Amino acid sequence: MSVTILGIESSCDDTSAAVIRDGLLLSNVIASQSVHEEYGGVVPELASRAHQQNIVPVVKAAIDRAGIDKHELDAIAFTRGPGLLGSLLVGTSFAKGMSLGLRVPMVDVNHLHGHVLSHFIRREPDDKVPEYPFLTLLVSGGNSQLILVRDYNDMEILGATIDDAAGEAFDKCAKVMGLPYPGGPHIDRLAAEGDASRFRFAKPHIPGLDYSFSGLKTSFLYTLRDAVKSDPGFIESNRADLAASLQRTIIEILMDKLDKAVRQTGVTTVAIGGGVSANSGVRKAVADYCETNGLTAFIPERVFTTDNAAMVAIAGYYKYLDKRFCGYDEVPFARVIV
Ligand code: KG4
Repeated sequence: MSVTILGIESSCDDTSAAVIRDGLLLSNVIASQSVHEEYGGVVPELASRAHQQNIVPVVKAAIDRAGIDKHELDAIAFTRGPGLLGSLLVGTSFAKGMSLGLRVPMVDVNHLHGHVLSHFIRREPDDKVPEYPFLTLLVSGGNSQLILVRDYNDMEILGATIDDAAGEAFDKCAKVMGLPYPGGPHIDRLAAEGDASRFRFAKPHIPGLDYSFSGLKTSFLYTLRDAVKSDPGFIESNRADLAASLQRTIIEILMDKLDKAVRQTGVTTVAIGGGVSANSGVRKAVADYCETNGLTAFIPERVFTTDNAAMVAIAGYYKYLDKRFCGYDEVPFARVIV
């Protein structure tokens, strides 16, 4: 018997709904919020209000585009956390209402598990998916983690950032350069035209598999502050080289620990996920590394790197198979609990 899951994602500033049937993607609708642009970051109160406006049309569009009737749904999967509480409340409350109305179970999904399992979303029945165990480099605006995935319900965090996430490093350094929020995609675009060996920035020396990006951010800030003193036009005339050098440094930091984790675990498959996995340099570095070392690489489609409900639906699908349902008294969580 086939299993059809509706996924709902509302953890930050994207309202998304998707339908997955037996692991095959039938629809994935994402409404992004432009209201935050003028504030240079996501404003939580505005985000939750926009989710309230978006959620009904987005869910309706996902069901319509999937070509199904809502009564064909077997369960409602939703992001329970981590994320912005006000935003999560909208998706959680909607999922509860819909689950009660349709009399189908509700499945809560950890947003980070969704990113990890996004490689199991198939567009065609014979699309390739990772074999267990594999290693995931999860890099987003809020997290930088190395995760050993033994099974869809068995994940171990081997290392994580002790301060800023990789996305924060991109965004905060981009802000110093006067680029709009979020700065990651702007750095990516500028880096393509720059000389990545032009500037050197500090790299962390911390043991184990943990990451740190706050020292790089400070080093970047001081380099620019000192240079601007003697040349006020320094940032403007070196934008591409600064972006390329910054991106190279972030990638070196990421790849150094990824390599260590591969050696420690002996895995033969490496996957990446999260917003920063949209970065051209990161994608190329991981693909090249895997090719050189005879490993299989899973690089997500760009639409699955940012927040999307397809990954929530696939994670929900596996939990549904295990009958791990969620009660109506469960509440969202803002911070990571694994
Ligand atoms: O996963 P995500 O959408 O949100 C979180 O759940 O955190 O990640 C957002 C982060 C932002 O820091 C953004 O700048 C970064 O992903 N990002 C990029 C690129 N696209 C998005 N960073 C570097 N290069 C990109 N192309």
